[in-house]
Amino acid sequence: MRKKIIAGNWKMNKNLEEGMGLVSEISNMLKDEYQGSALALIIPPFIHINAVSKLIADNSKLGLGAQNCSNHQSGAFTGEVSAEMLKSCGCTYVVIGHSERREYFNENNAWLAQKINAALASHLTPIYCCGETLAEREKEEHFTVLQKQISEGLFHLSAAQIQHVVIAYEPVWAIGTGKTASTAQAQEIHAFIRGLIAQKYSDAIAQEITIQYGGSVKPENAAELFAAADIDGALVGGAALQSRSFVDIIKAMA
Ligand code: PGA
Repeated sequence: MRKKIIAGNWKMNKNLEEGMGLVSEISNMLKDEYQGSALALIIPPFIHINAVSKLIADNSKLGLGAQNCSNHQSGAFTGEVSAEMLKSCGCTYVVIGHSERREYFNENNAWLAQKINAALASHLTPIYCCGETLAEREKEEHFTVLQKQISEGLFHLSAAQIQHVVIAYEPVWAIGTGKTASTAQAQEIHAFIRGLIAQKYSDAIAQEITIQYGGSVKPENAAELFAAADIDGALVGGAALQSRSFVDIIKAMA
């Protein structure tokens, strides 16, 4: 059985007080309303991680992740945060290669492969993001782009290591735009990604990898997406900034 994970990526939103309020609401609602088995992840800005960790300690339905980490273990890298630091503050997951990092901070696949290594070395589970732009989809290059992102970012890993990675498929044209990929479009790509893993490693390993969908996931479209055979959860942006909508998305996963 693959692990089902719904992650709420706050991006650069919420001051400390707002963030703590949001986490408390989510935690209470989940205790009252959710009996399912999915894991819900809070992915706040770095500076709130320690406080969130304390707030969710009594709720086994909630876990904690970071939005990024350094590709280095430690040293003179001003402004960076290492995977080891994240681990020591209670994180168990870290998002690597979000399309905003790729686009605005020039993070390429080779760089991201190093971040994957840094995360795994500190026993964090990387959530490796991939996805095509609108221009790439219109030129029908999406399979090629995804193949390159997955192979260059992940295929240096051993069979044992890849089993500790979560993949998030996020078509760039669906992020923050209100345009969700149709369930058929998302399922097609998820099955393609699982096929790449099966080819490189084995079918058994591919069947165990959690592949999340991301891009304008909302309570209204979550249940249909989650019913698809290869969609194992969601990476949620905008709708994770409100307790009601985030919890309703989690509840869409039985
Ligand atoms: P969105 O963001 O849900 O606001 O589209 C998703 C993401 O960037 O992870």
